Formats: sequence, structure tokens, C-alpha cells
Amino acid sequence: MVGSGAREHALAWALSKSVEVIVTPGNAGIAAHGFTCVATSPSELDADLFVVGPEQPLVDGLADQLRAQGKLVVGPGVDGAQLEGSKAYMKDFFTAAGVPTAAYETFRDEESAYEFLDTLLPPYVIKTDGLAAGKGVTVTNIIDEARADVHDKLSGESFGAAGTTVVIEEGLVGEECSFHVLCDGTDVVPLTAAQDFKRVGDDDLGANTGGMGAYAPMSSMSDAQRDDILRLAIHPTLAELKRRGIDFRGVLYAGIMLTPSGPKLLEYNVRFGDPETEVLVPLYGDDLYDLLLRVAEGRLAGARASSSGAAVTVVLAAQGYPQQPRSGDVIHGLGPDGQLATPNENVIIFHAGTKRNDEGQFVTSGGRVLAVTGLGADVAEARRRAYDGAALVTFEGSVRRSDIAKSASEGEQ
Ligand code: AMP
Ligand code: GLY
Repeated sequence: MVGSGAREHALAWALSKSVEVIVTPGNAGIAAHGFTCVATSPSELDADLFVVGPEQPLVDGLADQLRAQGKLVVGPGVDGAQLEGSKAYMKDFFTAAGVPTAAYETFRDEESAYEFLDTLLPPYVIKTDGLAAGKGVTVTNIIDEARADVHDKLSGESFGAAGTTVVIEEGLVGEECSFHVLCDGTDVVPLTAAQDFKRVGDDDLGANTGGMGAYAPMSSMSDAQRDDILRLAIHPTLAELKRRGIDFRGVLYAGIMLTPSGPKLLEYNVRFGDPETEVLVPLYGDDLYDLLLRVAEGRLAGARASSSGAAVTVVLAAQGYPQQPRSGDVIHGLGPDGQLATPNENVIIFHAGTKRNDEGQFVTSGGRVLAVTGLGADVAEARRRAYDGAALVTFEGSVRRSDIAKSASEGEQ
């Protein structure tokens, strides 16, 4: 397992139901939970299966490098990773594949970007072309904010070189969903739909983040909507990947807006979502290893993934997240294994940004610190357990949303 966040912790935990898992580099909480964490680079490790968690190493060619060594890998090569690595590439891909998406244009020059903004209606959507850890997108109804954002991005102030090309898009309105499919280059196996909460504050206010919480399954999604997503987005994407000669073996995570005129693709990611993984993997029991092995081997044909139960995760972030997270605050409420001090089998704590201080206490060391996942028969029960668990974990200045999965659990009643 390659990576160091709560997503990798969740994957390691789920895969460990079937196999021995080694994480590189992992983090203090993953190690405390009993998983071997090593600093060795993946290409120097031996394993039956390599699962690459984050996008950056995929964009940098890790999967190609490992495959060249004859290893089995979950994660696309550089060619497939471009779908996430460049928004401009992704949007061109959507057009070529005929996938429904927001109208857009790409700019490197401020004046032309401002002129294009003037032709649009709010909300204005401005995206950094390169990777920006989920924080490169601005959605605003205020034209002056949109212009200022274009300036900050194109001048390199916001994201350095990664930001000096922007994509400006038509604003879409609707319910969002995170739709993950396992893909072996030819066949796909969809996972149940999840929902992620990207804004830092309750009621979707405040800055965009990597994600403040998630739940699955998204029971408000109808079978017809699910079929539409597969027919209009996923299958044409697979055909276009084939046409381009891209052998995509990994996870394709579609960010979709369910608009009144059907699903529209906001983006593709080429790996599991974070925090979506923290609610998806618990629903698949011990099937995950077999499914991922089939992804890597190109043997997905005929495979099925059936989920049971529900999960909700609440992210505890550091003070100042997402702009300037503070680190070094002692985390209270955790036992020596990094889980709740009072064990509870329906609550799992996945560590994102933690380390141990000299006294062995867990301290914050990143923007997103912990993801507290509650499991239950339905979203309402899982939500109660997640929030009851999260209430037991405290640190100075912790930032958390109180409305994760709120309307979904009310919708079940
Ligand atoms: P992205 O990283 O492209 O998924 O964008 C991050 C978030 O910005 C999405 O999850 C949406 O909430 C919002 N967003 C992105 N594109 C649009 C759009 N065209 N219209 C409305 N909201 C958008
Ligand atoms: N949850 C958003 C992401 O993983 O990109």
C-alpha cells in the first residue's frame, strides 16, 4: 500500500482482512493500528500486489515503473493518470469521448480570461490546471472574486507553476456524487455511490477542501441515474481510453453533478477518493483484495462487488485548514493503538495527519488529521456512531462539520 493518509489507512485495514499489508511510508496512526509501515521506496519492495493511494506518484510514473519490474499494480500509468493530472487534458478527453460535462475554456492569459468571464452567468467556476490537492477550484457568484482568483492563479501566486493555466467553466447546479469504478482496462465493476462534503463549513459554506466527510451508500440515487452514469459517462470513457491505447488498471473515480438534465461529469480522479474510501471499503467485507487483484491482472470480467450496510466519516481537521493548518496539538481520546480509548467495534479512526511526540502522544501534523468512520445498518445509524465517536476525540482548535450525511439520514426516515 503506497501512501500516508486516512485513505491508505482504510485500504490497509480492509485489505488486512485477507492478506498481510505493508504500507510505505504510512503514518504514526497506521503503524499504531498494527500495520507495518516502512520508509523503503515501493520499487525496492516485494509484494504480490501494489496499491497506489494518491494521485501524485501515479502522475509521476510509479505504476509504470513497478510494472516494468514485473509487479502487479492497482493504479494507471502516466498516460491514464493524465485524466486527473491535467484538467485541460481531462476536458478535451470528455469532448472526444462525448461525455456530458460543463462548457469550458482554457486560459493562460488574464485579459482573455476576464473577457470570457463576462460572457458567463454565475456561479463562476475557476480551476487550476495542475494538481492542487483538491483545493484548486473556486466557485463563486461574485464576479470580482472570480477575477481576483484568475489573477492569483495565473500569476502563480496561488499554486505556483501548477496554477498558471486555468480552466473556466459553466456553473452546474445539482446534487453531487462520487462514483467509483474498478477498471482493468477492459471491464469495470462499479462501487456503490458515495457523497463527499468539500466545503470546510456547515451548509457547504467556506473554502473548498480535500473533503470534510463522506457517506455511502447514497440511497437517493435511483437505479435509472446509476444506469445513466454508466451509459453516458463510464462506458464512453472506457471506449475512449481504448481508442487512445491506454490500458487503465486502477480506480476511476468520477465526480458527478446530477443536474435536472442528467448526470454531468465534473472531473475524473484516477485513484480512490479521500475521504470516500473511508466509507466505501468497510461496505465490501473481505472481497476487496480479490477485486483489486483482478484489476491488476486484467481479470475483472464477471466480477461483482456487493456492498452491505452504511458508513459515515467525519473529518477532524487542524485549526486553519485548508489555508494554514496548525500542527503539533496533542490529540486526546485515543488509545495506544490510535483508536478510541474506549474501544467500539462500530467506530474506526483512520489517521491522516498525525505523529507521535516524544512522550508517545498523538499530535496533529497535517490539515486533515483524522477521519472518524461510523458503521451501521443504515446511514442514520452510521452517522450517529461517527459523531458519537468523533465527540470523544479532541484537540486544540479542531475543525469539523456537524452536518455530514445529515440530509441523507433524514431522507431515510
Ligand atoms: P473538482 O475538483 O473539479 O471536482 O471541483 C471541486 C468542487 O467544485 C466540486 O466538487 C464541485 O462542488 C465544485 N464544482 C466544480 N466544477 C463545477 C461546476 N462546473 N459547477 C458547479 N460546481 C462545480
Ligand atoms: N474527496 C475528493 C478527492 O478525493 O479528490
